[in-house]
Amino acid sequence: MTTLLRLCGLALTLFAISGTGAALAQTGSSSDPRAQAQQERRDTQPGNNAPVWREVRSGNQGYTSMQGQEVGVLVQSAGETWRQIRNGPVTVYGGWMLILVVLALVAFFTTKGAIKLREKPTGRMLERFNSLERVTHWTVAISFVVLAASGLILLFGKHVLLPIIGYTLFSWLTALAKNLHNFIGPLFILGLLLMMVVYIRDNFPNAADLQWLAKGGGLLSGKHVPAGRFNAGQKGWFWGGVVLLGIAASASGLILLFPNFDQLRFTMQIAWIVHAAVGLIFMAMGLGHIYIGTIGMEGAYQAMRLGNVDEAWAKEHHELWYNEVKKGGAKSAPGGAVPAGAPHMREKQ
Ligand code: HEM
Repeated sequence: MTTLLRLCGLALTLFAISGTGAALAQTGSSSDPRAQAQQERRDTQPGNNAPVWREVRSGNQGYTSMQGQEVGVLVQSAGETWRQIRNGPVTVYGGWMLILVVLALVAFFTTKGAIKLREKPTGRMLERFNSLERVTHWTVAISFVVLAASGLILLFGKHVLLPIIGYTLFSWLTALAKNLHNFIGPLFILGLLLMMVVYIRDNFPNAADLQWLAKGGGLLSGKHVPAGRFNAGQKGWFWGGVVLLGIAASASGLILLFPNFDQLRFTMQIAWIVHAAVGLIFMAMGLGHIYIGTIGMEGAYQAMRLGNVDEAWAKEHHELWYNEVKKGGAKSAPGGAVPAGAPHMREKQ
């Protein structure tokens, strides 16, 4: 079926090209220089259709009874430039960037190991994330992982998977990846918008962030740097990742997902380059976030899965927030002690 469609497409293209050629040739008697060039070329170099192709690739509108933007343009030459950018810098640099980030995280983990609690856990728990914050987070996180995996299959699959798994499985897998990417994308956008609303109030920069940044978060020195509910690194992930990259990925994705708003092919090509570049940078940053939220820091994953942290954890990693919560005047919800015997306390035991 696909082959039949391809043959029909080829036949139509050849028909259109020969039509252009014939049209050029027919007007040969007129003073149209393009038609004269084609006429001469036919006599001096039979079979050389360069003037026809030049005309086809010029991007000039031809005639068609169909309505719509650019429908009379048979070949848009910028498409070839786009293809070279896709298969060149985007794939090559993007692929290496991801590999290097993974290698850096592996090197960091093997040399430094996970960030462990220095004090003994107290057994007293503080609520760190309420259920709205957690549901929002996991909606975004799970949809992000699905989008990242399907996006990687669509971008690199031809080079990496096809030679290994063959055409049948690869076509099935890419069709699945494309549909997942298209349907999960809008869910991710809604989750992201909600995340911006829910998390913004504790992400405004303050003086403590400058100190945290000046000391590199104590990551290399291993020294304790006081931070509020979110430290400067987390705020950077919120503003640079969630807000900036999130909006750029969503806007460019919507331009690609709904081509029925009469956007030009060139607009789609630019949107694709932005979408792929932003997506790859988002994934690179996301890898760092996922690392620190799972194996990189003891107690972090529980904070987002169950919503609570040990007081010792809160004091070591977010001392200013801990002090606020203990004073009972925390502006930042949720905070507060988790009563012993609460369901999520039991789950921890
Ligand atoms: C499987 C993927 C992910 C895991 C395992 C994960 C894990 C975590 C954990 C453990 C925290 C709590 C940190 C703390 O208590 O200080 C957290 C916070 C957060 N996550 Fe994720 N996350 C994932 C994906 C994402 C994605 C894709 C986004 C956004 C695009 C995101 C945005 C946030 C934000 C805004 C916070 C609060 C501030 C911060 O810690 O940066 N997460 N995540």
